[in-house]
Amino acid sequence: MKMDTLAAAAGITQADFHKFVEYFYRKTGIHFDDGKRYFVDKRLLERIAVTGAADFRGYFVALRFEADGRELQNLINAMTVNETYFFREAYQFDCLVNHLLDEVAGRKPKGSRIRIWSVPSSTGEEPYSIAIYLLERWARIADYEVEILSSDIDSKVLQSARNGIYSPRSVAQLPRHYLNKYFTPCANGDWRISRDLVESVEFSLVNLTDANATRRFRDIDVIFCRNLLIYFDDLSRRVAAESMYDALSPGGFICLGHSESMSRISSLYKVRSFPDAMVHQKPLEHRK
Ligand SMILES: C[S@@+](CC[C@H](N)C(=O)[O-])C[C@H]1O[C@@H](n2cnc3c(N)ncnc32)[C@H](O)[C@@H]1O
Repeated sequence: MKMDTLAAAAGITQADFHKFVEYFYRKTGIHFDDGKRYFVDKRLLERIAVTGAADFRGYFVALRFEADGRELQNLINAMTVNETYFFREAYQFDCLVNHLLDEVAGRKPKGSRIRIWSVPSSTGEEPYSIAIYLLERWARIADYEVEILSSDIDSKVLQSARNGIYSPRSVAQLPRHYLNKYFTPCANGDWRISRDLVESVEFSLVNLTDANATRRFRDIDVIFCRNLLIYFDDLSRRVAAESMYDALSPGGFICLGHSESMSRISSLYKVRSFPDAMVHQKPLEHRK
């Protein structure tokens, strides 16, 4: 059967679609416009089939009244776009080890803590890329207690990040000598990342548009928030920008994806231009 026929069979009207989109937006900050109807219907139909609901209405009532939030998590896992790979937009990792960390370290005595937060992590390629860059390219790593935290709203990708097994496509941009040094080949052609790297990153389930969930992230020196704001509307972007502002130490930095910017959503940050990349910074003398 064609998708629109299937959606009609499950009773998803245009009004239902809008009700669902509004509900999902409130829960996640992710905004689907009418152009995403096919994408949303397809995933909703899968969830309706898996849960055994009679139709969309039955599914939606059960979803809103469930006590444990389990189906909401399954739905979030189905609706998120998790595309990522090692050394994606690597010029920002260059900027991290060539400029940002030296500036952060310059404000702290040796032996103190430096905290980096990669959010969203997706399946872990970004935080692990940061860990490899630090080990390979930041000469002062032994002088500081570096912590790498990483979060996502999708529990399935976090499990995958903790498992640390990657397809050849995912590691295609990694220089071969790093692949040989930090990974072991699996029989099926995948690559398993070293236990040391897995243990160097602390993964957690977090919705970046939920101020209660982000409250425990404080004193962060550098945030990588790449390829997430594109899924938000301006209001969610503003909430995320403020949560990250509160999470950062004064003088802390944010690296966004190449098509993302704070300019329309927040005047809290300064823009800093480095030879490798342009980043946003919480002013040293912060105000709010
Ligand atoms: C395209 S991936 C980006 C991964 C990585 N940062 C990169 O640039 O390669 C987008 C991720 O954002 C996550 N996400 C979507 N909404 C979120 C939210 N409200 N809070 C935290 N993560 C979210 C999705 O689960 C998905 O894994």
